[in-house]
Amino acid sequence: MRRYFSSILLILVALNTGWFVIYSGSVGLRGLVSEAPRDVSRVFVNGYPAINAGIALHMIAGALLTVGAPLQALPIVRRRWPGLHRRFGYTLFGAAMVTGLGGLLYIGLNGTVGGWWMSLWFAIYGLAIICCAANVVYFAMDKDMVRHFRWAVRLIVLAVGSWIYRMHYAIWYAATGGIASNRDFTGLFDQVQVVAFFVPYLLVAELLLRWRTMKARPA
Ligand code: HEM
Repeated sequence: MRRYFSSILLILVALNTGWFVIYSGSVGLRGLVSEAPRDVSRVFVNGYPAINAGIALHMIAGALLTVGAPLQALPIVRRRWPGLHRRFGYTLFGAAMVTGLGGLLYIGLNGTVGGWWMSLWFAIYGLAIICCAANVVYFAMDKDMVRHFRWAVRLIVLAVGSWIYRMHYAIWYAATGGIASNRDFTGLFDQVQVVAFFVPYLLVAELLLRWRTMKARPA
């Protein structure tokens, strides 16, 4: 059972992101083709095609990244179909770049609904995704599989981060009715969330990676 733990966990995560992946992909596609994208989502700005195209492509690429990153890490894919792992790896790298750069472009041109604090942390999140994706590919090409694995773990945590962000909200609203959260995303809960959806998960991943290295080291 222990052998299959990581595969089961990765499949469960990928399946659970399904609703958000469909939501993100469909809003992105509709925003891209609509003449009044603001009717599709409040993130679009009528009359500003560059902003809208950037954030719409970001949503479509982000959807692929969210579900694709955990599936890409499945041990069976890595071992049995290395060619598929390689090709899909480059595809995910492209998706990570479009997601991160599209989000950063949107922040630069329009800002976020929650103001500078949300913009700051979303920008850090975007830069972290770009940095991790670049390192995953760099160390794969360098044949340094230990570092490739470490950066891939960090990238998966970040790739599902946007889904985690929505899950935190869903749980919080179900439990409290939305205390300390508002439509402008300026409540205390909103302000904590822009950090809490990825930083603590990255720290836990880092601890697990260190523990794994220590365990593998001969006494
Ligand atoms: C990892 C996959 C990602 C997916 C699937 C995704 C998806 C989405 C979706 C669907 C929206 C529209 C808001 C909503 O209806 O909930 C959105 C908004 C946004 N995303 Fe992402 N996103 C991802 C990653 C990122 C990253 C890495 C950044 C950082 C650069 C980012 C920055 C933004 C910004 C700035 C907005 C607009 C926020 C606002 O003002 O409301 N996203 N994203």
